[in-house]
Amino acid sequence: MKIINGSTYEGMCLEAAKIIKSQMSVKPTSVLGLATGSTPIGVYKALIEMNNNKEIDFSKTTTVNLDEYVGLSGENDQSYRYFMNTNLFDHVNIDKTKTFVPNGLASDIDGECKRYDKLIEDLGGVDVQILGIGLNGHIGFNEPNAYFDKGTHQVSLTASTIEANARFFETIDEVPKTAVSMGIKTIMCAKKIILLANGTAKSEIIYETCFGNITPNVPASVLQLHPDVTVIVDNDACAAIKNNIN
Ligand code: F6R
Repeated sequence: MKIINGSTYEGMCLEAAKIIKSQMSVKPTSVLGLATGSTPIGVYKALIEMNNNKEIDFSKTTTVNLDEYVGLSGENDQSYRYFMNTNLFDHVNIDKTKTFVPNGLASDIDGECKRYDKLIEDLGGVDVQILGIGLNGHIGFNEPNAYFDKGTHQVSLTASTIEANARFFETIDEVPKTAVSMGIKTIMCAKKIILLANGTAKSEIIYETCFGNITPNVPASVLQLHPDVTVIVDNDACAAIKNNIN
């Protein structure tokens, strides 16, 4: 694992955007694995700026998102499809028919999960996967004690994740209880992974992820086994690493 301290949130996001830019200049047809949540918003802002400045071209790019809530349509402003449209896709020269998010309204969710894994396989796999991390170490919606060998599947969100995500909804009762998520196996198949974390609250879990035991209790710890992971943090999220290493 390579660890980069971008100092500030903006610095962290710029480091991630630069890696994506260099990936796309080498391979314009790259498949980008994308995440939602508050962490990557600044990366998407930086990519939009690079696109406006003609430094990066999305016209041949395909994207696959990590996850989607079950029961929300893409028009729902809390769906991850809506998030991606408003935070990235609407502002860059990407062909939206090549942007994929699991269908949370599929009548057969298990079938949708299989379709999604097949789609990723048919695309030739993910070139760069962006990840945020939950306070409990989840990646995608793979909560503690997730199986490391699962592909895309339906997950039940833990109480702590429902609570953390309630900030985006009017009431906590509106937070969906299940989601479709790429599994750990799907994520680990990405050729390159960028894990992002900012803020003091993520400091301990980032230390555990990078230097703790590899255990399903901390799903992100499995990333220690991946050959090409870059962890990018800000000063706050880097604090526990600094304290424990110096
Ligand atoms: C979102 C996702 C989640 C988030 C995580 C952190 O697509 O997969 O794993 O990355 O919950 O969320 P934020 O960035 O809001 O702290």
